[in-house]
Amino acid sequence: MSGDNSFVVVANRLPVDLHTAPDGTRTWTPSPGGLVAALSPVLEHQQGCWVGWPGVPDEAPEPFRTDAGVLLHPVRLTQGDFEGFYEGFSNASLWPLYHDLIVTPEYHREWWARYRDVNLLFAQEVAEVAAEGATVWVQDYQLQLVPGILRQLRPDLRIGFFLHIPFPGADLFRQLPWREEIIRGLLGADLIGFHLESNARNFLDLCAGTEGLTVSGTAATRRTDAHVTTHDGRSVAVGAFPISIDVDSLGEGTPGGVEKLRAELGDPQTVILGVDRLDYTKGILQRLLAFEELLEAGALEGAVLLQIATPSRERIDQYQVARSQVEEAVGRINGRFGSMGRPVVHYLHQSLPKSQLRTFYEAADVMLVTPFKDGMNLVAKEYVACHPDGSGALVLSEFAGAAVELHQANLCNPFDMESIKRALLTAVQGAPDVMRERMLAMHAQVSEYDVDRWAEAFLSALGEHR
Ligand code: G6P
Repeated sequence: MSGDNSFVVVANRLPVDLHTAPDGTRTWTPSPGGLVAALSPVLEHQQGCWVGWPGVPDEAPEPFRTDAGVLLHPVRLTQGDFEGFYEGFSNASLWPLYHDLIVTPEYHREWWARYRDVNLLFAQEVAEVAAEGATVWVQDYQLQLVPGILRQLRPDLRIGFFLHIPFPGADLFRQLPWREEIIRGLLGADLIGFHLESNARNFLDLCAGTEGLTVSGTAATRRTDAHVTTHDGRSVAVGAFPISIDVDSLGEGTPGGVEKLRAELGDPQTVILGVDRLDYTKGILQRLLAFEELLEAGALEGAVLLQIATPSRERIDQYQVARSQVEEAVGRINGRFGSMGRPVVHYLHQSLPKSQLRTFYEAADVMLVTPFKDGMNLVAKEYVACHPDGSGALVLSEFAGAAVELHQANLCNPFDMESIKRALLTAVQGAPDVMRERMLAMHAQVSEYDVDRWAEAFLSALGEHR
């Protein structure tokens, strides 16, 4: 059982989603989230094969090659898989647990059974397309059992695993009724990568406290100084590999685009921008409340907030709650502080093309990134990349992984309203040369450590390990 692909990436989602129009016409559109944004250019450079779900239940078109040369291998998930594996165990159990219980995770045996079944399905698909001795790179929390299953099916493969979201402290992780299975699944990999050393340390602590596992070394960035030895004597490397962006994929700015956008917004003094999936981890409500309090105090004269909230996981209760809270706040703030034809919050619950996003990033005087918890947050890096001249200012949550590298940002604690307000005011009113210097330092960081450096660091560590 082997195919002819020497480099295979497997992620829950393909980089494109399948849409079927009422007349039956099928189209593919870019799928949401940072994982896809980061991995697409890597796959294009490697001309690899991408195994994943096309974003709708009960569909699995034939494999096909994209214009950029990536072979897409769709995996079919049933409606039951979608509900139990995707909405259930992945996004209502693991997602809140790994984001430090911002909402309470739910644990259901049926969801877990689906998670196991779907991980088996993904592993079987990979086993079929991967060439003898191929490198397989497994992505994210939806597929944590794949490395272990794949190792049994295809011991010839070189297997890497990367987690795109935070890894919680051992005390939290131990809540999980199926904790041993998840740890064993992950340890099927030759190399396990996290964004931050703190995430890697959490995983190593967990392993150190698990019978039959031995930990040596300490977590390091872009290195694999730490190892876990499994009960059968295999050594698994562990390291931190902070993900980044492909600066080129943001495209060129549209000439006159910024002026046009600012004019559409009523030529405000200050444009403040938020761009997120509509997720309760992102702290969108908190930033709206901070904006509202500053308007109330008369401290943000002539400012508008442009909030892009990409639809996400819309049938899950907690996402519906988050959306209605955000939309209620937008309505209230505009009712209080807007005037005819002049809202103070421009809110779009839509996903926008990259070219338009680029104009928004360029036009924004301040970017607000205020998650309660975030693996990395590539929006912060994209904003910085769009300001090579040092213009603009970034407000960034201390709890976003990006804060480790972008420490020159105006950092805030999103649990503390006064802290968000302080950071926002400093970003708006701070001394221009200080702000410029900070933006330039962050721009240098993002330009040097781009997504190619991330992939190269991970893949060469994986290559050296075996
Ligand atoms: C985050 C996750 C990704 C996920 C993306 C979009 O970035 O780490 O694995 O693909 O969100 O979420 P969705 O549920 O729409 O795939």
